[in-house]
Amino acid sequence: MSEAEAPAVVGLGYVVVETSRLEEWHRFGTDLLGLAPSSLKVENGFALRADERIARFIVQDTGTGAPEGIAVIGWEVAGRRRWDALPATLDEASVPYEIVTGPAAAQRGVAAYARVTDPSGYTVELCYAPVVEPIEQFVSPTGVRFVTGEQGLGHVTQTVSHYDESVDFYTRILGFHVRESIDLAIRATFAGCNSRQHSIALIDGQGVSADHHVMLEVDSIDDVGRALDKVNAGAAPATVGLGRHWNDKMISFYMETPSGFQLEYGFGGLRIDPDRWTEVRQGGRGGASLWGHTPVQSLRDAAGMKGFGAAVEA
Ligand SMILES: [Fe+2]
Repeated sequence: MSEAEAPAVVGLGYVVVETSRLEEWHRFGTDLLGLAPSSLKVENGFALRADERIARFIVQDTGTGAPEGIAVIGWEVAGRRRWDALPATLDEASVPYEIVTGPAAAQRGVAAYARVTDPSGYTVELCYAPVVEPIEQFVSPTGVRFVTGEQGLGHVTQTVSHYDESVDFYTRILGFHVRESIDLAIRATFAGCNSRQHSIALIDGQGVSADHHVMLEVDSIDDVGRALDKVNAGAAPATVGLGRHWNDKMISFYMETPSGFQLEYGFGGLRIDPDRWTEVRQGGRGGASLWGHTPVQSLRDAAGMKGFGAAVEA
């Protein structure tokens, strides 16, 4: 990929969760997902690791009245040159931003970040120089290995109130490449910034924004099955049963996090060559999955299922 085409952002860096259920989140993150406690001291909370990075999830109870759920999505900016160029990019696009460094940035496990609000109201931190802890090896409490590295932490799916503006923000300003779009009963755009088939999915919420899900990928189908066994035994509410997505080929299921948004836990995601990928548009009857992914009845109409649930059922 040429320098001109390379996106400013190269992957999902971290997720900040605001919650009043810290203990529940710790149990969920470690015992069920297999994330590891971090040595990073987080004010009013804790951080969890998925790899050598010191903070992949930052879970906190700030007491500021912030709503329960995803507080921030951290997207990683590629290298110093792109970080240095970022203010000019944001200025040119008339996107207000705040540069945060020092101890406040250290609370995210990075050297610095630029905090912006996307067109649908989500707080985004464009982060630079993540702190790694390579000597203290990442050891998952459940023995899983997460697929991260060049592909970032995973992917995020958001229902967005201002769909066209959000697609424009992530693609034209931040440099994500559209990998495919759906313009049927619902509108959705899947975009990527590395070899993961998509790192962000935006669903048209027609005026409504709502956290949908974060996806974590493990390197063994058996580990997905073991997590599913725990969910079936009551570790967390299941929201969508086991299935395989048609676009990124992920074999996964979805569960409800202690904060209400969903967590997709998957294996076998498609890797693509960003230089050779041809954007596609889904036609036909529409739908998100080759098989499975049946929504769990009791949660079908929950706020987080809006739009995407309809796509699964289509
Ligand atoms: Fe997903």
